Amino acid sequence: MLDAGDLVHPDRRRLVAPLFRTVTVTGLFLDGPHPVSPATMKDVNSIVVLTGAGISAESGVATFRGPDGLWEGHRVEDVCTPEAFVRNAALVQRFYDERRARLAEVKPNPAHLALARLDREWPGQLLIVTQNVDDLHERAGARRLLHMHGELTSAWCLACDGRFRWHQPLGDGPACPECGVAGKMRPDIVWFGEIPYGMAEIEAAVEEADLFISIGTSGAVYPAAGLVRLARHMGARTLELNLDPSEGSHLFDESRLGRAGELVPAFVDELLGSANAA
Ligand code: OAD
Repeated sequence: MLDAGDLVHPDRRRLVAPLFRTVTVTGLFLDGPHPVSPATMKDVNSIVVLTGAGISAESGVATFRGPDGLWEGHRVEDVCTPEAFVRNAALVQRFYDERRARLAEVKPNPAHLALARLDREWPGQLLIVTQNVDDLHERAGARRLLHMHGELTSAWCLACDGRFRWHQPLGDGPACPECGVAGKMRPDIVWFGEIPYGMAEIEAAVEEADLFISIGTSGAVYPAAGLVRLARHMGARTLELNLDPSEGSHLFDESRLGRAGELVPAFVDELLGSANAA
C-alpha cells in the first residue's frame, strides 16, 4: 500500500505560489469598464475561456463551495490535499471513486455544448482552460481544452510516475497498467499545495488573448483566479458569466449574471455572429 513518503511526486511538492506572477493593476482601470459588446468584439482573434464548477452545475455536478462551505459534505482539507491522502488514503480514494462513478450519470449541458461549438467554429486562436475535473467539456466535443486541476478519468502511478486514462475505482489498490505495482495509484487531481497543470501554456495563451471569458467560477482559488488580472494587464477584454458576482467581479470589463446554460449559448451566438459579420 501507499507509504507516506511517496504520496506526492517530488516535482509537485512545491507549494503553489499565491499568484504565478504579481501584476500591479492599480491605475489600469481608471478609464472605466469597456462592455464586451459585438462592436468591441470585431477585432477579437485570440480567446481564452476559463471555466469552473458553475458550468457543470446544471448537469447535476455539485459546485465546490456550497452554502455550507462543504464539497459534497466534506471539508476541502479532508479530501483535497496531499496531507489528507497521507492521513486517510481510503477516505480520499473513496471520495474520488464516487465522483468518478457519478460521471456516468451526468451529461453535458447547453453551456458545454456551446463552448464545443465555439471550439469547432471559431476561426482564431482558442484555449478552454477548465478547473473542473469532470469530463463534460470533452464529452460535449471540445478539443482545444486544458484541465488545469487534473481529471477524474486519469490516474497517476506513484511507483513509475505514469499517468493513464482511468474509469474504474482506485480504492481497492489496482495494479498499474504500466509497471504492474499494485496500490500506488492516486487520482490525477491537483490538490491544494500542488502545482496546476499547463501553467506555461495557459499563461502564454492569456498573454496573447484579445478576449478572456470566465464562466462559473467563484474566483477563490489561485492561480486560476489571477488570470483575469494578467489578461487585463495585457490588454484583453474581460467578461464574466456567473450566477453570482465572484470575488473578482470588479476586475472584469463586464459581468453577466445568470445560469451558464442560458448565458453561454447566447454569448457564443454573439461571438460567432460577430466573426461571421467581420
Ligand atoms: P466554486 O464552487 O468555488 O464556484 C462555483 C461558481 O459557480 C460560484 O461563483 C457560483 O455562483 C457559480 N454557479 C453556480 N451555479 C451556476 C450556474 N448554473 N451557472 C453559472 N454559474 C453558476 O467552484 P470553482 O470556482 O470552480 O480545486 O472552484 C475552484 C477550485 O476550487 C476547484 O477547481 C477545486 C476547488 O477546490 C481543486 O479541487 C484543486
